Amino acid sequence: MTPDRSAPALRTVPTAPVPGQKPGTSGLRARTVEAMQPNWIENLTQSILDVIAPGAGSSLVLGGDGRFFNDRAIQVLLKMAAANGVAHVAVARNGLLSTPSASAEIRHRRVDGGLILSASHNPGGEDGDFGLKVNIANGGPAPEPVTDAIHRRTLELDVYRVLDAPDINLASVGNTALGPMRVEVFDPVPRYVELMRSLFDFDAIRALFRSGFRMRFDAMHAVTGPYAQALLEDELSAGPGTVVNATPKPDFGGRHPDPNPVHAADLVAELFARGAPDFAAASDGDGDRNMILGRGICVGPSDSLAVLAANAHLAPGYPDGPVGIARSMPTSRAADRVARALGIPCFETPTGWKYFATLLDAGRVTICGEESAGTGSDHVREKDGLWAVLLWLNILAVRRRSVAELLGEHWARFGRDYYSRHDYEGVDPAAADAIIETLRRRLPELPGQTIEGLTVSHAGEFAYVDPVDGSTSEHQGIRVSFGTEARAVFRLSGTGTSGATLRVYLERFEAPDPHRFDTPQAALARVTRAADRISGLPGLLGRAGPDMRG
Ligand code: G1P
Ligand code: ZN
Repeated sequence: MTPDRSAPALRTVPTAPVPGQKPGTSGLRARTVEAMQPNWIENLTQSILDVIAPGAGSSLVLGGDGRFFNDRAIQVLLKMAAANGVAHVAVARNGLLSTPSASAEIRHRRVDGGLILSASHNPGGEDGDFGLKVNIANGGPAPEPVTDAIHRRTLELDVYRVLDAPDINLASVGNTALGPMRVEVFDPVPRYVELMRSLFDFDAIRALFRSGFRMRFDAMHAVTGPYAQALLEDELSAGPGTVVNATPKPDFGGRHPDPNPVHAADLVAELFARGAPDFAAASDGDGDRNMILGRGICVGPSDSLAVLAANAHLAPGYPDGPVGIARSMPTSRAADRVARALGIPCFETPTGWKYFATLLDAGRVTICGEESAGTGSDHVREKDGLWAVLLWLNILAVRRRSVAELLGEHWARFGRDYYSRHDYEGVDPAAADAIIETLRRRLPELPGQTIEGLTVSHAGEFAYVDPVDGSTSEHQGIRVSFGTEARAVFRLSGTGTSGATLRVYLERFEAPDPHRFDTPQAALARVTRAADRISGLPGLLGRAGPDMRG
């Protein structure tokens, strides 16, 4: 038989393991320069394909947040998927696919999983970060046993398989053959718009905008730009110019695509200035986080979760309200108070969205959230930035209150959980481990001690037993409680790429009092001092204070 000269050749390439590919809280992150090393992306891809073993006839969704090097990595992923027996890959046009939209695609298409190229809110560009996350057939992030197996595989890999073929044109929608595999380039925006239309009262939101309500959405030159323009400007008639920084850029315009008061300072300033719009929001690199602002007010993510859960029944997608709520352990207990009032359970899970998936799959919870600006529901298996924005708009459209009034009424009904997170960044990893280890050893002696006038009622390390599948996760953060009123949590970040980040989460509850609202840092002064004395921070690091107070 004469060989078919037009068929791309399959190459099996000898390789050596590239170290350092350890999955964190949310997939695998690395410095982009590291990811661009020879064989790095190939080794990782081969390890992923070996573990998720999609096999003949399998189908995957592929895309990312458009950051630097994604375009090259996508071509490698496609050629390697084709060489490893994958039958079909649906890749987003120009590789631009938000994380929640990837989850929606995986679920709608009933494919075997997806690969999302994103380092979320970390900076992009050649000097920034790169990331790759594996999602499974339920649309959610791969659970720990899968990511651990991928990591083990990266350490033993000796060959990878790739197809020698020209690059696929990702700019136009349509089907192409890549050897035996079908590559489908698709536009993910219409399906996402459809999903949002099925959950929210678009007529009510349109009427809100017609009444003169003004909003601003900052896409931070990241992936949500096209989705936000289609939803807010085209569908909901929010007015041209509502979405700013709408064009995705490989370096996110040189900024951290992280929707918080530091990295979205312009937006915050606009909302606190004269002539501010009624409402504003921003999302991160891959579109799963959200920041919510009203005129003269920033809504903390823990409060946002509580407000959304308490008012979800106002949106057509949640007519009976949530069946249950889940929050990550360091998230404030504001959501617990709503759950109690609604007579539904509230689950406390480790940090990271993957821990919500079993609860969502089992139908035990409808709404989930994290203090790190992540909120979402059972419509997908990822947190969803634009979903949170639209639910806020739906609630505002029905209740016709300002954001500040809505929050004030919420606190007057449920009480207020003052909340702040202090981050110490760029810490020497060994020093960070030692600080946590010392703290761990001190835990047994803390209960009963009164520090800064607060008496420790409980001190321990959070370990989680998944109530659905019984799997356990240890060492998920150190908790020190001062009665039911106040709490401090200490944990190490699992998403950084250079040095360690120590996070200290502080909170204090105040019963409903419509006349007393302090600023969070003032209300938390005593808890902060107590937490600093317990951990020895910031003295141990020789710093004046945290690098970031959120
Ligand atoms: C951070 C957040 C966490 C979130 C994760 C991915 O992880 O704290 O809530 O799920 O990013 O967006 P960390 O760096 O704290 O491990
Ligand atoms: Zn993200």
